Amino acid sequence: MSMALAGAVELSPGLVMPRFGLGLWGPREGLETERAVAAALEAGYRLFDSAPVYQNEKSLGRALLASGLKREQYFIISKLWTVGRENFEPVEDLKRSLDNLGLDQLDLCLLHWPTPQSSRAWLSLGETLATGLIRALGVANFSPSQLTRLVAETGLWPRLWQMEIHPLRTQEALLEAARAQGVALMAHCPLARGRLRKNQILGRLAQKHRRSVAQIILRWAWQRGLAVIPKSTQPERIRENARIFDFDLPPADVAAISRLDQGQSVLKPPFVFDAAGYVLAHSR
Ligand SMILES: NC(=O)c1ccc[n+]([C@@H]2O[C@H](COP(=O)([O-])OP(=O)(O)OC[C@H]3O[C@@H](n4cnc5c(N)ncnc54)[C@H](OP(=O)(O)O)[C@@H]3O)[C@@H](O)[C@H]2O)c1
Repeated sequence: MSMALAGAVELSPGLVMPRFGLGLWGPREGLETERAVAAALEAGYRLFDSAPVYQNEKSLGRALLASGLKREQYFIISKLWTVGRENFEPVEDLKRSLDNLGLDQLDLCLLHWPTPQSSRAWLSLGETLATGLIRALGVANFSPSQLTRLVAETGLWPRLWQMEIHPLRTQEALLEAARAQGVALMAHCPLARGRLRKNQILGRLAQKHRRSVAQIILRWAWQRGLAVIPKSTQPERIRENARIFDFDLPPADVAAISRLDQGQSVLKPPFVFDAAGYVLAHSR
């Protein structure tokens, strides 16, 4: 079964997002991105997680165009970057992204990182909803307390919360917070950026289920109800990552994977954070 068929989540009335997609941080603009997106589309992926700072929007747009799919058949996420920017015009940024992508509308735009100016950015992003350039808003990398503050200061809820979640950082409390608040949760870095390739417990589970370690990790995330966006530039791995809809991990195996948690982040953003975890600036 393709992931387009396997599962979707309704973020708001009429806004349905596939729960499985391709992450696009890393592939270079040009053939590398075009081939990855084409392989993903061929394998049934219909969700793409993009951002202007990934610098490959034009290639994503070219591959979407070449697919011949109708606009309503795929779901595009992009992000607003405010780190180190005192002045930003979301409409200008969105128009630039859409121009690069060759699209008229984004399905979802996320505030990429929490910064001291998040509430201002979030409100101006909210105003762009009326322009029709985006269908809905979300956040990435906001802790529960940062999200609570953002909503309290603006009255605007996100439709999607994208966070780093993988077996080394299972984020149980976050899953509960998202459930309690009714916000869909998406795991970025779902494969822990390859750190778990040689993990013995995952290796044993992979043997037991006759799957790869990557498939075991992605199935674990899927069964926890998360949206997942693994990244690969390799067509064979892109296909492999999508073959997780025809087996189940029993609860004991899910629990064994969850016990790998070390609260460990694999992200190393070059940022200066304040004590409350807001990004103040680039560190280089
Ligand atoms: N909002 C944010 O701040 C934020 C931050 C980080 C990530 N993200 C999003 O989340 C997406 C995914 O995260 P990520 O790219 O950082 O890391 P990831 O998906 O956890 O891991 C990607 C790594 O795993 C490898 N890989 C993929 N499939 C594999 C397989 N089947 N077997 C073995 N290795 C495999 C890839 O190598 P190959 O390419 O060589 O296959 C790459 O090195 C990003 O692309 C981006 O869209 C968002």
